[in-house]
Amino acid sequence: MAVPVIAIDGPSGSGKGTVARRLAEALGFHLLDSGALYRLTAISAQKKGVRLDDAATLAELARGLDVRFDSNDDGSERIRLSGEDVTTLVRTESTGAGASTVAAIPQVREALLERQRGFERPPGLVADGRDMGTHVFPCASLKIFLTASAEERARRRHKQLKDKGIDVSLAALSRDIEDRDRRDTERSVAPLRPAKDARILDSSGKSIAAVTQTALDWVAEL
Ligand code: C5P
Repeated sequence: MAVPVIAIDGPSGSGKGTVARRLAEALGFHLLDSGALYRLTAISAQKKGVRLDDAATLAELARGLDVRFDSNDDGSERIRLSGEDVTTLVRTESTGAGASTVAAIPQVREALLERQRGFERPPGLVADGRDMGTHVFPCASLKIFLTASAEERARRRHKQLKDKGIDVSLAALSRDIEDRDRRDTERSVAPLRPAKDARILDSSGKSIAAVTQTALDWVAEL
């Protein structure tokens, strides 16, 4: 029997990560945070001194990532790369910028494709990213494209980072988000855009709980 896949795509700060996590919990499904794989590739490159334009070596790093996704007792995430705890490093803005640079390289995307598809296991999967519905899981049962205004996304990201003790100015963050949006939507391979059959969900001014509920209502319609 086919495994149900819920694809959630959208720009940074749209609330994708949180909504995907809550949806996976509510449905008892597996979760794929595909952005983390691009972030880990960028971290791995930095640790090994690989340049961000060395496509072949970056693809090799992406294919060989030794990563473990775990949860702490309080439900928060813990990510290990080759045994080293990189949870905080994964979420920094500079890692995000590195991720969007390596994510524009076709060989890196290709190298991560099978790994991402390996997350499709019973009883189901919630997959969070930029190209889940368009490329990685084109046959997903439900495709959601989550958006929010650029200002609101910058504000949310600011609060998220502050809560994690990471200090960054709102203006700098807005610029970073704009740059990242541009790179993600304008790249030639798997650019960020809604799948033709995606349902658009604008989270501006809505609580995470309300957005999650709308997504659950859509799942119930399947
Ligand atoms: O979602 P997150 O902010 O962790 O993603 C980091 C970067 O990884 C994005 O800006 C994007 O460039 C890239 N990415 C991607 N395709 C995905 C997920 C993330 O290109 N499916």
